[in-house]
Amino acid sequence: MFINIKPLDVANRRGCPDEFSFGATFSDHMFTQEYAAGKGWHNAEVTPYHTLSLDPSAAVLHYSQEIFEGLKAYRNPNGNINLFRPLENCRRFNRSAERMVMPTVDENFHLEALKALIKLDHAFVPDKPGASLYIRPTMIATSPKLGLGASKSYLHFIITGPAGAYFQGGFNPISVCIANKYRRAVAGGVGEAKTGGNYAASLYASEEAAKKGFSQVLWLDAIEGRYIEEVGAMNICFVYEGKTIVTPSLSGSILPGITRNSILQLAPTLGYDVSEQRLDVNQIVDDIKSGKITECFGCGTAAVISPVGSLSYMDEDYVINDNQTGTVSQHLYDHLTGIQYGTIADPFDWIVEVPVK
Ligand SMILES: Cc1ncc(COP(=O)(O)O)c(C=O)c1O
Repeated sequence: MFINIKPLDVANRRGCPDEFSFGATFSDHMFTQEYAAGKGWHNAEVTPYHTLSLDPSAAVLHYSQEIFEGLKAYRNPNGNINLFRPLENCRRFNRSAERMVMPTVDENFHLEALKALIKLDHAFVPDKPGASLYIRPTMIATSPKLGLGASKSYLHFIITGPAGAYFQGGFNPISVCIANKYRRAVAGGVGEAKTGGNYAASLYASEEAAKKGFSQVLWLDAIEGRYIEEVGAMNICFVYEGKTIVTPSLSGSILPGITRNSILQLAPTLGYDVSEQRLDVNQIVDDIKSGKITECFGCGTAAVISPVGSLSYMDEDYVINDNQTGTVSQHLYDHLTGIQYGTIADPFDWIVEVPVK
């Protein structure tokens, strides 16, 4: 399929502002394509960033039939742009689409759309250390109909915007509260799909935790309230004895993070053991108390690695590694970001380079 590119006149392009804030500053252009039952995907275009016009009865506004993704592009030493695992990201988008009864998109076409957009808006990919371009592919149900059922029409769009360094001047370990009362997602539900409702469902507990001074909520499984799942919009890893990285196995209610998967592949090449297990919260607390757990970190596209300095469970605080960033967290962060920025070789073929000239 053909992408109709309708760019802004060069004179009207803004380029990346000096000051920007993640999720609030957007690049000049966006990609859109529409889907209709019987017709499939059509009208693929890259146009100036614009507001959407939706019928007030559009299905997404009532029944949340929507999915989204998050990935990043980095400026490499040649001045070109590195996309990190874009096909893997598109595959998760399609798995979310299937779960939410939405049409899938062609992986290679989605990649072409990303490339076309990035080429046009490459000025928005910052070249400051730690900064990147955040990319947000989204799909929404647009059928104007209040009867409950899968929509017959959809809009797929991609917007992008510059994102500053997540940690200014070094890592700041975060304090995390383990949710006792609230659950994020249940096995059999939609927790492993990246759909907006999961995030809306997490807000109440996050706000409550923030009022108590915690920066993130760690979720337990919804059936027994006992097994560790994930932390905010990140997966979670524990480091045992400075050597073994342990993360919850994918339970059906955890988002299968691409950073998590990258760490599971990368860490053994750096000399660590990795293990995916069902992790009992009581065991984790005991292992922190006994010092077997030497580090804990969240991992996800936004921060890449976010060290956890303390975990609070049932109103008790458990400090990990003296609330300092551990050497394993730092090692993984440096290596993974080195691959993303193109300063360390990528033996995994994770990077898709987009030439900008
Ligand atoms: C709920 C949740 N878990 C985990 C992650 C980490 O996934 P990734 O590493 O693909 O960003 C994210 C972010 O996308 C998320 O929203």
